[in-house]
Amino acid sequence: MASSNIEFVYQNKIFEITNPDSNETLLNFIRTKLKKTGTKEGCAEGGCGACTVVLGELKKNEINYKAINSCITFLPTLQGKQLILVEDLILKNGSLHPVQQAMVNYHGSQCGFCTPGFIMSLFSMFKKNSKFKNDEIKDSIAGNLCRCTGYQPIIKAAKSLKNKSKIDEFSKSKKNTINLLKKINNKSVVIYHKGKKYFAPRYLMELKKILKKNADVDFLSGGTDLSLVVTKERKDINSIVYMNSIRDLNYIKNNNKYIEVGASTPLIEFESYIKKYYPDFTKILKRYGSPQIRNVATIAGNIATASPIGDCLPLLLSLNAEIVLQDFKKTKVLFLNDFFISYRKTKLKKGQFIHSIRIPVLKGNTFKAYKVSKRYDDDISSVCAAFNLRIIKNKVQSVRIAYGGMAAIPKRAIYCEKILSNSIVTDEIVSKAKKALEKDFKPISDMRASGLYRMEVAKNLLEKLYFEIKQKKIIGVYF
Ligand SMILES: Cc1cc2nc3c(=O)[nH]c(=O)nc-3n(C[C@H](O)[C@H](O)[C@H](O)COP(=O)(O)OP(=O)(O)OC[C@H]3O[C@@H](n4cnc5c(N)ncnc54)[C@H](O)[C@@H]3O)c2cc1C
Ligand code: FES
Ligand code: FES
Repeated sequence: MASSNIEFVYQNKIFEITNPDSNETLLNFIRTKLKKTGTKEGCAEGGCGACTVVLGELKKNEINYKAINSCITFLPTLQGKQLILVEDLILKNGSLHPVQQAMVNYHGSQCGFCTPGFIMSLFSMFKKNSKFKNDEIKDSIAGNLCRCTGYQPIIKAAKSLKNKSKIDEFSKSKKNTINLLKKINNKSVVIYHKGKKYFAPRYLMELKKILKKNADVDFLSGGTDLSLVVTKERKDINSIVYMNSIRDLNYIKNNNKYIEVGASTPLIEFESYIKKYYPDFTKILKRYGSPQIRNVATIAGNIATASPIGDCLPLLLSLNAEIVLQDFKKTKVLFLNDFFISYRKTKLKKGQFIHSIRIPVLKGNTFKAYKVSKRYDDDISSVCAAFNLRIIKNKVQSVRIAYGGMAAIPKRAIYCEKILSNSIVTDEIVSKAKKALEKDFKPISDMRASGLYRMEVAKNLLEKLYFEIKQKKIIGVYF
């Protein structure tokens, strides 16, 4: 039986909210209802990290601590989780948490506006890691902006945590928290609030029953795109189905032919899994938004958004991925290449959802991907390129190349592929293939890059690929 109340663990107790507004952000709830104003609002679009809080989620009898952006999280999605705010970190004896103390010791705060967000990102790293390597530290704060202290003191503070005891109030109350989470984490939610509907099913069968009666719903996965309709466009979303609560869609399977990723699997889990098969996929994902974004965002959301600069899309196109679509009665499998129609238009019909994504396992192929953006971290691509080739004795046996940021949709470079296909790789062939990109794409100019720049970058990335293959080493500042 579905409930219209949500329950979550807060300060060692179960906290219940009756019939919440499905469009209310968690940040708004924290600041105006809980009256905890440590958590700040900066951008209201997931870009600055000032609103970072940590959620504890039960996973295999352990608590998984995830930093998230509360400004783009809808309140009902808290169901079944633990909420941790910056105010909760202080120890019972009144002293600061080791993360807070480290920021004080290393002068990690000046005006202080960004500080609670940094503390929460570092707290999540503190709970999850023990080595605190440089790249772990930098990754953990990639989604937090500071405009006055600068990052070095914060990085030094983070490094100093390596020698600190990991015992805090959360480790002491872990058993109790796990018991509380177990009590509340298997509940489906249905909320009707002032004309707005919100469904959070736990199982696929429940989802299909909902869709049978409610075809006109918006699917909410990580919400890192969809929530901006509310926070930036100031519109209401009247009917929401929360996909990330569906257990049977959170999986990664592998049958040696393809890897299948369930639609509600967060990118952060996929990014570590795929490294073994396609290391460049992981490299691109490390620069995809921030940990706060990747902790909740999904490949399915990236595909359904169909943005020309969605970073997974050229990679999946070059790997010839398929998507499994379902509605309440039928299943359809489609090549991703046939899914995009025109700018942000796809073949997805009303009431139809992405169930999973299938990525072929191609042994012996060379797969490389490059992202060029104005800023290294937490920035949208100007151009993203992905190359998948089988080369035997310097001859290209098969090739699939796809670009993002070069057309209205993420698209394959068919003319370029034709030049390379069955060719012996030489300087001359690569020059011809670069020229062919002009037939493949007529990129536009916008705030991110001019059309001319995009074309130049697209050609240069092909050349970079060529040199990397020839010299068997990675070239350039990025990788
Ligand atoms: C600060 C910030 C940084 C970002 N950085 C990047 C970046 O570097 N690269 C990049 O590519 N993107 C980036 N994005 C965009 C966004 O994070 C991605 O597109 C993300 O993958 C969306 O996934 P989601 O699960 O959050 O989707 P949601 O926001 O939940 O949904 C997005 C769209 O997909 C639909 N949808 C969701 N799940 C399904 C499903 N299972 N079936 C059918 N439709 C579905 C929704 O209805 C909605 O229309 C960024 C966003 C923010 C806010
Ligand atoms: S307020 Fe900037 S990320 Fe939330
Ligand atoms: S301390 Fe002022 S923005 Fe970071």
